[in-house]
Amino acid sequence: MFNNQPVSYSGVQPSGNLTIGNYLGAIKNFASFSEAYKCFYCVVDEHAITVRQTPADLRRRTYETLALYMACGLDPEKNTLYVQSHVHEHAELAWILNCFTMFGELSRMTQFKDKSAKHADNINAGLFTYPTLMAADILLYQTDVVPVGVDQKQHVELCRDIAERFNQLFPDTFTVPEPIISKSGMKIMSLADPTKKMSKSDENVNAVVYILDDKDTIIRKFKRAVTDSETCVRLGEGKDGINNLIGIYSCFTGKSAEEIEKEFEGRGYGEFKLAVGEACADALAPVQQKYRELLADKGALEAQMKKGAEEASWYARRTLSKVQKKLGFVKI
Ligand code: TRP
Repeated sequence: MFNNQPVSYSGVQPSGNLTIGNYLGAIKNFASFSEAYKCFYCVVDEHAITVRQTPADLRRRTYETLALYMACGLDPEKNTLYVQSHVHEHAELAWILNCFTMFGELSRMTQFKDKSAKHADNINAGLFTYPTLMAADILLYQTDVVPVGVDQKQHVELCRDIAERFNQLFPDTFTVPEPIISKSGMKIMSLADPTKKMSKSDENVNAVVYILDDKDTIIRKFKRAVTDSETCVRLGEGKDGINNLIGIYSCFTGKSAEEIEKEFEGRGYGEFKLAVGEACADALAPVQQKYRELLADKGALEAQMKKGAEEASWYARRTLSKVQKKLGFVKI
């Protein structure tokens, strides 16, 4: 809560091309939030460097991610859109929160375990303390709700624990946030291995549909999607591939699973996959068009970043200054 207005906060990594998992699980639902909340959306470049990045790519993707947020329907007049490294309070509060977060808590984070297995040659301290930076992002804005995918729920819960611990020692410092796992934002699974989450960093390009894939690519990827040996389009245990495709089709068309089962009664997987591909490509076409227009004007995007950073700083400064005072830091 900030000035009696409930706050929603979310972040997206600029570390790769965004997938339909990011779109359906998070970004698509963001636009409607600005009715009820003061909304902040942050491109988290500081989180991105917990794994090695090529600087030119990181820079390019920061612009691209901002443009994509906007193309997906986020109005910068109604939302605060900014880049994490432009607001220095994030890194400062993260340090402070590190001192209120336990080694054991961070060791239990499943994302840390996954990422350190994947990047065994670079298990750096930033990868380990990633969740305290994320907690700083959230707590700086006195956030009430955090719309995230299920994979980030554990991090938001840790953020709550940190906030509660801090508040116990220093009452009334932070709002304790709630995660919002979007209803339709079910985990979108990989098309190649539907027991695994669709991940933008998957090495198998056929496993992942990117928001910016062209129509032919999208249809080809869905055609190749791994399913099962049955032929009937219906939800079922062990039918991870079909369950996933029904979920995706449902998200893009707004139809319920029952409606979808009825629609494809007596029709095979091939026809169904084509329909999913077409629904996906059609839904993404206007987003892609807007994205290209935005990205063509770097100057306008930079002006946008600057405006967002100024807005965000105003809030971040207030919280950080309150925290520093409570801790006993000398103010000069
Ligand atoms: N960790 C999130 C992810 O990888 C991104 C993120 C960073 C975030 N800071 C955040 C999400 C704050 C919500 C709130 O998806």
